Amino acid sequence: MNNNIVVTDSRTGKKFDIPREMIQQDALTIIDSRTEKEYSIPITNGTIKAMDLRQIKVSDDDFGMMTYDPAFMNTASCKSRITYIDGDKGILQYRGIPIEQLAERSTFLEVAYLLINGELPKKDQLSEWKHNITHHTMLHENTKKFMEGFNHNAHPMGMLVSTVGALSTYYPESRNVHDAELRRLQMYRLIGKMPTIAAYCYRHRLGMPYIYPDNELSYTGNFLSMLYKMTEMKYKINPVLEHALDVLFILHADHEQNCSANVMRNIGSSFADPYVCMAGAAAALYGPLHGGANEEVLLMLREIGTKERVPEFIKKIKNGEGKLMGFGHRIYKNYDPRAKIIKHIADQVFEVTGRNKLLDIAIELERVALEDEYFIKRKLYPNVDFYSGIIYQAMGFPSDAFTVLFAIARTTGWLAQWEELLMDPEQKIARPRQVFLGSPQRPFVSIARRTA
Ligand code: CMC
Repeated sequence: MNNNIVVTDSRTGKKFDIPREMIQQDALTIIDSRTEKEYSIPITNGTIKAMDLRQIKVSDDDFGMMTYDPAFMNTASCKSRITYIDGDKGILQYRGIPIEQLAERSTFLEVAYLLINGELPKKDQLSEWKHNITHHTMLHENTKKFMEGFNHNAHPMGMLVSTVGALSTYYPESRNVHDAELRRLQMYRLIGKMPTIAAYCYRHRLGMPYIYPDNELSYTGNFLSMLYKMTEMKYKINPVLEHALDVLFILHADHEQNCSANVMRNIGSSFADPYVCMAGAAAALYGPLHGGANEEVLLMLREIGTKERVPEFIKKIKNGEGKLMGFGHRIYKNYDPRAKIIKHIADQVFEVTGRNKLLDIAIELERVALEDEYFIKRKLYPNVDFYSGIIYQAMGFPSDAFTVLFAIARTTGWLAQWEELLMDPEQKIARPRQVFLGSPQRPFVSIARRTA
């Protein structure tokens, strides 16, 4: 057997017969049945470059081969060093550290530092980081007036998306996305101000006065204070709830190239400022298939109403009448590791708040689904949103505020992804191709001469 590889020079079309052992790099050999030409495409990190396919042409004026991949089912859009997921094994790591260890031993602000800087902070680095974030928690007073314009029943995610976008107008220097110091300043502001915006959204709905941040409290403690403080001088925080919220924030902090992170990177690739990028990312999160699922889970559990009605509900899902919200994932084909940790946290929260009745329905739903052939065959397991809403509800959050909580935590991941994109010399403005199947060129017809 001839052990040589024929390589075609894409510019000249010349073929070279190269002994296989001379080719150092792993390569994919493609034979184009239309032309019978053979191509060798280098393989790096288990991927081929889509641009390397462009040399595959039937004629000189042919545009060249593209890949077709709606929803990026099998396309890596970037190289990243932030978050690693093995969906089949149910593994999630931030900068190499397993999520279970972070949830047990770290704090949300420490994890935020890790995601953005790549390493766990030393003691002095952590205190400086915390100081910088807690000193950017205040909102410009005008923001209050702006938020007062929302209807009393406005969805908090709509308010959050608009307010984050509006922050861009307060910090015009943020447009200078290539200045590392300015980038860092916007990160402090965004991580610091997100809980304040979220709390203002919450209190606006209730017609209650906004509460200013208390910088002596922890990140989640201050958030709880801004939500629930009434006339007392200092809000008394329940340490169990403060800790539970901190862990939930750790679990939601990043999840590699999900829908909203991809939006953050897409908008960021045009060098727009981080506030408008984040408004876009938060809008993507709002959707019921992404971060909006936690709200949908609660509505679904309420609709089911009792444990006894679970089989009937599952039957409906299998008949194609809707989806089991909080189940299934594009990447996880195993139990979402975050959902396991959340189940554990739920027990701690319910000891303080009392058991949420919806939990029994959720547990029964999970039991029935995990034994059902439909869900087994499709590898559908509970995801992060399945139990988080039940805990949030027990902690006193209204269901439409759940996605806002997700957004506060995910701010850190969005910012880490955004900066990684800006630092990556291989990145350019995001601009996918299309397969055009529309009409070929045709002349304009005046309105009087148009037929049906
Ligand atoms: N309930 C019932 N069937 C489902 C579900 C579900 N939750 N999820 C997927 N399927 C079915 C789907 O109908 C399809 O069946 P078939 O092969 O017969 O057509 C099969 O499973 C494969 O699903 P898919 O739609 O191709 O999977 P996807 O990777 O495109 O979608 C998903 C992933 C998360 C959007 C989807 O599982 C879903 O809609 N889940 C419910 C919403 C949800 O919980 N979202 C939160 C995701 S985790 C948090 C986050 O990342 O924001």
